[in-house]
Amino acid sequence: MPATCVFGAQWGDEGKGKIIDAMARDADVIVRYQGGANAGHTVIAGGAKHVLHLIPSGILHPGKLNVIGNGVAVDPLKFLEEVDGLRARGVRVDGTNLRLAGNAHVIFEHHKRIDQAGERWRGDGRIGTTGRGIGPCYADKASRTGLRVSDMLDPQRFRQRLQAALAEKNAQLTAVHGESALSLDEQLARYTGLGEKLRPFVGDTAAEVRRAFKDGRRVLFEGAQGAMLDIDHGTYPFVTSSNTGSDGVAAGAGFPAKWIQNVVGIAKAYCTRVGEGPFPSEDHGADGVRIREAGNEYGATTGRPRRCGWFDVLAMRYSLELNGADGWIMTNLDVLDGFEQIKVATSYEVGGRHHDEWPGALTNLADVKVRYESAPGWLADTTKVRRYADLPARARSYVEWIERLVGVPIVMLSVGPDRDQIVPRESTLGRATALSAGV
Ligand code: GDP
Ligand code: IMO
Ligand code: MG
Repeated sequence: MPATCVFGAQWGDEGKGKIIDAMARDADVIVRYQGGANAGHTVIAGGAKHVLHLIPSGILHPGKLNVIGNGVAVDPLKFLEEVDGLRARGVRVDGTNLRLAGNAHVIFEHHKRIDQAGERWRGDGRIGTTGRGIGPCYADKASRTGLRVSDMLDPQRFRQRLQAALAEKNAQLTAVHGESALSLDEQLARYTGLGEKLRPFVGDTAAEVRRAFKDGRRVLFEGAQGAMLDIDHGTYPFVTSSNTGSDGVAAGAGFPAKWIQNVVGIAKAYCTRVGEGPFPSEDHGADGVRIREAGNEYGATTGRPRRCGWFDVLAMRYSLELNGADGWIMTNLDVLDGFEQIKVATSYEVGGRHHDEWPGALTNLADVKVRYESAPGWLADTTKVRRYADLPARARSYVEWIERLVGVPIVMLSVGPDRDQIVPRESTLGRATALSAGV
């Protein structure tokens, strides 16, 4: 896998952390290219659980280069907290195995305050953001008023730019949101010293990643969030503020799109969403609750219960095509072990019209009526299975049925949160062999 992009193909939390950690064994460089500490990527290794928010999920493997690209919205406090947390757990983290883009935008306290105040302001129309300041930071980037990591390395320039930013943000906080203003002195005291702590990590990461690639090193791009939360192609306005799939790599890492050879989506064997917004195959009944409890579906970043429902073929076909996926990985198959019947959303009806494809042009997806088909469950434990042939026949039928409906090869299955709970697969749909061999 000389350059592979792995992205979330649903609404986030598909198990990207676990899979990237597993794939990182065969990679040299692991790169985050968008999102920020709204992400929560869980990696369970050696009995220890790590939830990574900003740092790539390759960090637990010694000798790999981990990169936070320019497209990531970096909260420097969270970044340093995460570095300290990993070090406290015995993971080596320094400027040789972790790099931070100097031209990545920085999230400050005012971004978090405005994110949270904005949610209150929206009332019933709220997005259900993580409150991590993501939207306001990307808004400043687009408005060209943001501060970047490199600005923090020069205290004089930093003071000037933070002062200018706060003048505007305080006006917004007080006049629009009726909140108290932030004190410039306090904010300077909080952030000024951080520049020196960041300095060892900071560099021109885009050039570093391209150099590594040209030197023949294998690069793995780690998406955050999911395709259905993409700012352009997701369920706008209930989305995050970045391009979450392979569409985000070129801009967010400074890596030409045409250098990416493999694109791999990740999706659960069912579906979850956290936050507000359309989720056609959500199950509001007992099955939704059962999925939540069986899958321990609570947010890794905010602890919020995730909304749960069934696998959605329309959304999946859409997100895999949009991102040019060569294959995909089905995670959390084990969560369905106890279900007698498993439902799958195979078409929609809206206003009397039948849809076989994701109705992206529709603005009100709340009115979607979902048509389900179902398959019998396998009612057996899959968590110890490591070879595809050893899965219960009905589990294989489920996987192959979904694969046919989606039309893109499933290259791997995940049957538990641990690193080794992986079932490689050679898909009958073809093209998958090369991908699974690289993992
Ligand atoms: P990410 O944001 O895509 O990295 O996913 P999260 O870490 O937010 O959520 C995935 C959750 O599912 C975490 O608690 C993982 O430990 C867990 N997980 C990952 N893969 C599997 C799997 O195959 N089966 C089960 N039962 N849990 C899994
Ligand atoms: P990972 O990488 C699931 C959701 C929020 C909210 C919307 C906008 O762990 O899969 P934001 O804070 O980004 O402005 O919130 O996006 N969201 C996620 N949902 N997984 C994530 O990340 C998410 N990051 C943001 O819940 O609905
Ligand atoms: Mg997550």
